Amino acid sequence: MGDIFDKIKKNPGPLGQYAAVAHGYFAFPKLEGEISNRMKFRGKEVLVWSLNNYLGLANHPEVRQADAEAAHKYGLSLPMGARMMTGESDLHEQLEQELAAFVDKPAGMLLNYGYQGIMSVVDALLGRQDVVVYDAESHACLVDGVRMHLGKRFMFKHNDMESLEKQLKHATGVVEKTGGGILVITEGVFGMAGDQGDLKGIVALKKKYNFRLLVDDAHGVGTMGPRLGGTGQEQGVQDEIDVYFGTFAKSFASIGAFIAGAPEIITFLKYNTRSQIFAKSLPMPLVAGGLMRLELMRDRPEFKENLWRIVKALQQGLKEVGFDLGKTNSPVTPVHLSGGPAEASNLVVDLRENFGIFCSVVLYPVVPKGVIILRLIPTAVHTMEDVQYTIESFAKVREKLAQGAYDKERYAVELS
Ligand SMILES: Cc1ncc(COP(=O)(O)O)c(C=O)c1O
Repeated sequence: MGDIFDKIKKNPGPLGQYAAVAHGYFAFPKLEGEISNRMKFRGKEVLVWSLNNYLGLANHPEVRQADAEAAHKYGLSLPMGARMMTGESDLHEQLEQELAAFVDKPAGMLLNYGYQGIMSVVDALLGRQDVVVYDAESHACLVDGVRMHLGKRFMFKHNDMESLEKQLKHATGVVEKTGGGILVITEGVFGMAGDQGDLKGIVALKKKYNFRLLVDDAHGVGTMGPRLGGTGQEQGVQDEIDVYFGTFAKSFASIGAFIAGAPEIITFLKYNTRSQIFAKSLPMPLVAGGLMRLELMRDRPEFKENLWRIVKALQQGLKEVGFDLGKTNSPVTPVHLSGGPAEASNLVVDLRENFGIFCSVVLYPVVPKGVIILRLIPTAVHTMEDVQYTIESFAKVREKLAQGAYDKERYAVELS
């Protein structure tokens, strides 16, 4: 007989392996100060490229004021209960309607957290007789939703329409026997690589196969599309997305999330999404703050213009000096380098301590062994000087990496 804690001692988990060398350096780092392009890390000011504060709303004075006024007026406790019981309000309903209109859908539903919300939406949509077909690089929350499904599930190769079609054929064979339906799941913008889901390609397959499409547009809502209404809007296929998901955790710079779709589907989900019906409703300040954020996104084109001016300058500039940005066609900017975890760690320490640049580093097992990705998130609050300085600094650390400056067996963080 064992002890469930035994495995913890033997195996810290795929990411826990870095705990020994990270020391709060690149795992659980503490950024301090007001959210902006400059914050403090280990007591020193750094230029921050790690926050999904795409439109710069996190610290916008009108947003801060709306949040503070709502907190003063309602407190954090209201409403005191789940939506179905005692958690409903006019403001919740208003925000749902405005969000739905923003993403060109007739109806919307708030979720108190994106992760639990969408996981449970996937669960609510699927019965044992149904089949789910999902992109191999789907976010953990989608995969967890799929894990709860008691029927068949098929994974298609990331953004590969041939692979999707093959899996749709299998899925069709299954549902012909069970009498169920097929749900295809993908993302609008994949948050690590920055590539858009091939929504157009998927929608084209609707002519040949009978399925419904769910799109997680966490990184796309508020960044993509002519009116910031997401990646479906960007690709001109928003109408063909049956269940659209967006979170407030990124461009909205808040907490909470929503789904949007046909009224009958949204009504069904309001009564059947377990993580929502058995959990407390979104607090009023988050709802009132959501309305203010939406107003700014809708009515002030400068947020979108500022974001995209920085995105274009950063991505073009990095490419011009020879950096490989992979497949991104969104603001997410992954800079690809080669090296092992020790080199990556030493390089990140150098970037943070000596260049004063704070960005996220993505290592194995999230990416293949030997690949280092420095992931930059450009925002509307960055400046052209920030962009220029970062491109020059990245060129310098690439040079140092090539010359073996980071090729030490010991991790710099262990030394500091
Ligand atoms: C693609 C994607 N889906 C869902 C989520 C979860 O959203 P939330 O942070 O609102 O729980 C995230 C991360 O925030 C994400 O990147």
